[in-house]
Formats: sequence, structure tokens, C-alpha cells
Amino acid sequence: MGGMSSEREVSLASGRGCAAALREEGFEVVEVDCGRDLPVRLDELRPDVAFNALHGPFGEDGTVQGILEWMAIPYTHSGVLASALALDKERTKAIYRNVGLPVVESVLAPRDEVRTRHVLPPPYVVKPYNEGSSVGVYIVHEGSNGPPALPDTMPEVVMVEAFAAGRELTTTVLGDRALTVTDILTDTWYDYDAKYRPGGSRHVVPADIPADIFDACLSHALTAHRALGCRSLSRTDFRWDPARGADGLILLETNTQPGMTPTSLTPEQAQSVGISFGALCRRLVEEASC
Ligand code: DAL
Ligand code: MG
Repeated sequence: MGGMSSEREVSLASGRGCAAALREEGFEVVEVDCGRDLPVRLDELRPDVAFNALHGPFGEDGTVQGILEWMAIPYTHSGVLASALALDKERTKAIYRNVGLPVVESVLAPRDEVRTRHVLPPPYVVKPYNEGSSVGVYIVHEGSNGPPALPDTMPEVVMVEAFAAGRELTTTVLGDRALTVTDILTDTWYDYDAKYRPGGSRHVVPADIPADIFDACLSHALTAHRALGCRSLSRTDFRWDPARGADGLILLETNTQPGMTPTSLTPEQAQSVGISFGALCRRLVEEASC
């Protein structure tokens, strides 16, 4: 838990929750805040299983998975390749396109260019291609005067994506089963605050949407999980524009380390189909491998 990405605080919350649940399930748990000394700590501890509660770069991108493979320590969630692919939103879309999943147009462009001209016609979204929790996301609205004033904290290359209007839907896949669909209702959009402030968003689960859209989310999430080669657990995020019917559904991304915090979507979806948080964490441990 913890780690070195901008989602460090989210990961600490995920990690604390999972550790408590695993202890209740009868496991002995040592909580490790993952810094540069992680290989040394792992060598000292030699755990039976590493439960990965990290998010973002170094935790969700194949790098920590590589360390665990190298040290022959079984670990939860996806392996090296699926993690590396899924944390890269642009390469994820190449995989989606390859298996016929719907996406919106996007390009990678230098930050400095994105600051000086509209790389895509507004409305569009600028975001890091490898971060989570909506960190560093800028929306450029239709009719906006100029390109976004991106701060220097943004990476040198950013993703510019056509704005997909509509509702925010998400589906968790556990093993070979897509669990359900959640409709996420917010006052503005599902930003960091709406994600993690209690009451920052309202989740309707199962989503009250037409059956064909609901079923498409289940089917697309499973296809995405398989195409990326995910293991055990993933959560795929969608946008759906009701005005465009079935054509209005697109995939945004697949998360291989979905949030496990008290306000997160995956534990809530599992609960809604009768899988307790403890059972979910136990299952991840049981399916760990290296
Ligand atoms: N990136 C956050 C943790 C999520 O997808 O839930
Ligand atoms: Mg994400």
C-alpha cells in the first residue's frame, strides 16, 4: 500500500481496508508502505502472498509486478503485461479497437503544444495517459477561448481525448464474471473530490438504464478484461450518452487495481451481488500467483 504515485493516499485507504478485512478472514497481515526499499522489505518478510493495494505508476503498471515475479512471491491482481497495458490509456485503446470495443478519438501530444493550440476541436479532455483517480484531468469546453493552461506538474506528453458526453457507468469483472453496472451521479463530473469525499457522488447499483446498455457494459467489460489479459479483478469505466442510444456507449479505460476504499465502486458492486468485502479480498489472495 501507499507507494510513490499521485494516488498514494487512495492506496493507503485501500490498503488499510483490505488489511483489516483479511485479518478478519483469519490471515496474518503485515502492512507495508512501498518505497524504493520494497525489494529489501520483501526479502526480509518473505510473505506467502503479496496483496497489492497500490494504485497508479509503480503499483499498477507492471513494475512492482516485475519485482514480485523476479522474487517468486505470489501476488494478487494482474500480471506484468496486463498491468503495463491497462495503465497506459492510449495503448489500452489500441487493444480495445483490436477487439471491436467502442472508444472515442484521442491522441498523445507534447504538453507544450497542448498549451498553445487546440489539438482536437473542443470539447475535449486533457489527462495524463498513466494516472488514475482523475488526477490532472482538464476539460476544455465547447466554445472555450483558448487551449488549457496546463501546469508544469503535468507530464511532458499528455493524452488529448474527444469529450464523451453523458453518464458515467462502471463494471467490475471478477474472474470470468462481470458483476453488475453502477451509474455514478455527480453534481459536475466524477473528479477526485467526488470519488473520495463521503457523499461526493451517488451510486445507483444496479444502474437504472435500458437492458441493452446494461448488458453491453457487462459484455464489454468482460471482453476488455480478457483482451488485456487481466487476472482476478478489473473495473472498466464507460460513458454513455442516452441521446445516442446504443451508439452512445464508449469505454474509457480498464483499472487493474480498482479502488478498495470506503467510497470505491468495486467493493460496492461485489456487495450488491452478495460478495462481502472480506470474501472479495480472500478470493484475490487465493488466486494470487507469480
Ligand atoms: N484509480 C482508482 C483507484 C480506481 O480506479 O478506483
Ligand atoms: Mg483509472
